[in-house]
Amino acid sequence: MKICVLPGDGIGPEITAQAVRVLQALGLKMEMEEALLGGCAVDAAGDPYPEATRKLAQEADAVLLGAVGGPQWDNNPRELRPERGLLGIRKHLGLFANLRPAVLYPELANASTLKPEVVAGLDILIVRELTGDIYFGQPRGIEVRNGEKVGFNTMIYSESEIRRIAKVAFEAARRRSKKVCSVDKMNVLECTQLWRDVVISVAPEYPDVELTHMLVDNAAMQLVRNPKQFDVMVTGNMFGDILSDEASMLTGSIGMLPSASLDANNKGLYEPCHGSAPDIAGKGVANPLATILSAAMMLRYTFSMEEAAQRIENAVKKVLAQGYRTGDIFEPGMKKVGTREMGDAVLAAL
Ligand code: IPM
Ligand code: MG
Repeated sequence: MKICVLPGDGIGPEITAQAVRVLQALGLKMEMEEALLGGCAVDAAGDPYPEATRKLAQEADAVLLGAVGGPQWDNNPRELRPERGLLGIRKHLGLFANLRPAVLYPELANASTLKPEVVAGLDILIVRELTGDIYFGQPRGIEVRNGEKVGFNTMIYSESEIRRIAKVAFEAARRRSKKVCSVDKMNVLECTQLWRDVVISVAPEYPDVELTHMLVDNAAMQLVRNPKQFDVMVTGNMFGDILSDEASMLTGSIGMLPSASLDANNKGLYEPCHGSAPDIAGKGVANPLATILSAAMMLRYTFSMEEAAQRIENAVKKVLAQGYRTGDIFEPGMKKVGTREMGDAVLAAL
């Protein structure tokens, strides 16, 4: 098992360190090697996704990533921004299927801004297409037309891109509550009309799964009105970016949510859904649980080690039940801990 570890920027190094400790504690035969991605790579190598990282990531079975980005790189030209590194590795490795589960741990029901009865028992999975759409479509740019600047991007999906992500969603639903809601904007955008048509054409292969469709604006509203109506939501790159941030907050803290980005052979990149949190970087207070849970997803999806994955997930449940909380999920009466102590608690629970 070869794992490429990319700590990245901001709180990235602190949180990945804890996930690495948890993986090591399982006593599996694992090779881990670190490389640079994002702003730290721009500073050290002049490239957010340098050649050495490309090589390591390509050769690894799985990639564990912290987070990238920070204000010091905000004014860089686009090709030297940390985000370019993240988009670069997703595209390079063909990681088209982004799985973002939003699960509410009962202990954290009060951490959500929504009423506990609206979110209690929440367990949804957002399947976001990750290598197409307006994120990568050509042409794109800013240029002068008729004496003024215009900015433009291209929203584009091919049938094959839609078909493969739809299949991922249907397969995932089969292992869950057997419901897929496909999200589009077919009342306005042709690209998403094709999206809906192709998803409908795939559905007969999965007669046991119920398929529904929702326009993205309504989906955004339904997610806060009655989120438990959803099981699996499947959508394009940009809508998925937005809806997954919204869904994460249903659970109280984005600091709890892991993600997996998979290619066609279950090679994957695993990262927390949250960002690099520059405001708390280096202070030892960040919540490492999303990254630790991402390591569990790695064992499940890339290495088919369901039991080991559940061991980690159960350890996380246990530390929450024991009252350990980092600042983002803290409530009076609980035990406030920092990043490393949270890692210690998970190791003890393991
Ligand atoms: C995410 C992030 C990225 C995205 C950024 C950092 C490029 O928001 O993973 O959701 O937009 O995909
Ligand atoms: Mg995002």
